[in-house]
Amino acid sequence: MATRKRIGILTSGGDCAGLNAVIRAVVFRAVHGHGWEVIGIRRGTLGLMSRPPDVIALSLDMFSGQVLRMGGTLIGTTNRGNPFAFPMPDGTIVDRSEEVYAGYRALGLHGLIVLGGDGSFGILARLVAEGGLDVVGIPKTIDNDVPFTENAIGFISAVNIATEALDRLQTTAASHSRIMILEVMGRDAGHIALAAGIAGGADIILIPEIPYTTDALARKIQEIETGWDRDFALVIVAEGCKTEDGSAVTIADAQGRPRFGGIGHYLADRLGQATGWESRFTILGHVQRGGSPATTDRVLGAAFGVRAVDLIDEQAFGRVVVWQNRRVADIPLDEVAGIHRNVEVDGPLMTTARGLGISFGDE
Ligand code: F6P
Repeated sequence: MATRKRIGILTSGGDCAGLNAVIRAVVFRAVHGHGWEVIGIRRGTLGLMSRPPDVIALSLDMFSGQVLRMGGTLIGTTNRGNPFAFPMPDGTIVDRSEEVYAGYRALGLHGLIVLGGDGSFGILARLVAEGGLDVVGIPKTIDNDVPFTENAIGFISAVNIATEALDRLQTTAASHSRIMILEVMGRDAGHIALAAGIAGGADIILIPEIPYTTDALARKIQEIETGWDRDFALVIVAEGCKTEDGSAVTIADAQGRPRFGGIGHYLADRLGQATGWESRFTILGHVQRGGSPATTDRVLGAAFGVRAVDLIDEQAFGRVVVWQNRRVADIPLDEVAGIHRNVEVDGPLMTTARGLGISFGDE
């Protein structure tokens, strides 16, 4: 009797809304469409390094209730699990890639679906090249910095949350005649700030791709006050923006590793001093990664999940599913790996934002 095919799925890097929708779509397509078995690998590549591998069988009945609607990832994730440079408890850095290959082989997988961002895909390409893993990638990251796909899973959900934050900040800004600054995630890319800034009616959008000056920001506030007779303003800033003199603004975690955070505080001080207006800042943080996924992330998740399973069926490994021109497509993992997609400074959304009179602090 022919053995039933078994595929694996893992989530890697920071979580976001919509991951469970993808996992569900993969299980539905694999089980309903192909009669396969699906194994969820816990906590990304850490699950493949565990002995025995840390896995959970994913069955249809697990997805009959709330899972589609839930944030996070049912199978866990890590953004500290680079097997080629793994941080051990004693402080040493060790190459544990052989353990990943052995874990993958021990599971007898006919293919592995990996949900990751640009960092995870770089690692994945190396695992494929050096370990011969049969993988298909699905882009997910609130930062939306994976190239060749219009959207990654989680981006629109994060933009919705940031937009809602601006909605809430607007009323308190107006009530108190203040500048309200919202700091959002995105690492070195300004996609969340740009999209939410447009959707939420920001007066100023600051993104890492465009250097700004306090003078230009103060001029915009002046224009709001004298030209528009308004006494409040909304600013959205991407966490990866630097100070005016080009220094990164970071905070250290308990292990001394730098993390983004604090540019909103810096700007509130600068703008307060330059304009005389009262300024407040809000760091939105990990709220942007939680909660129920937006409908677009669910639709994208369904399309990506179904196509990823079908690529395994076609033995088309080493590919990443992408969203281009209103349809799902797939491209070689090697073309995606190691490339980081920033905001196009002359792109269509920038034209829209400038057309609305939004300032980027550069003119
Ligand atoms: O890459 C996704 C992301 O949410 C970034 O926007 C943010 O800078 C980072 O992860 C935060 O990572 P952590 O969960 O380690 O704090």
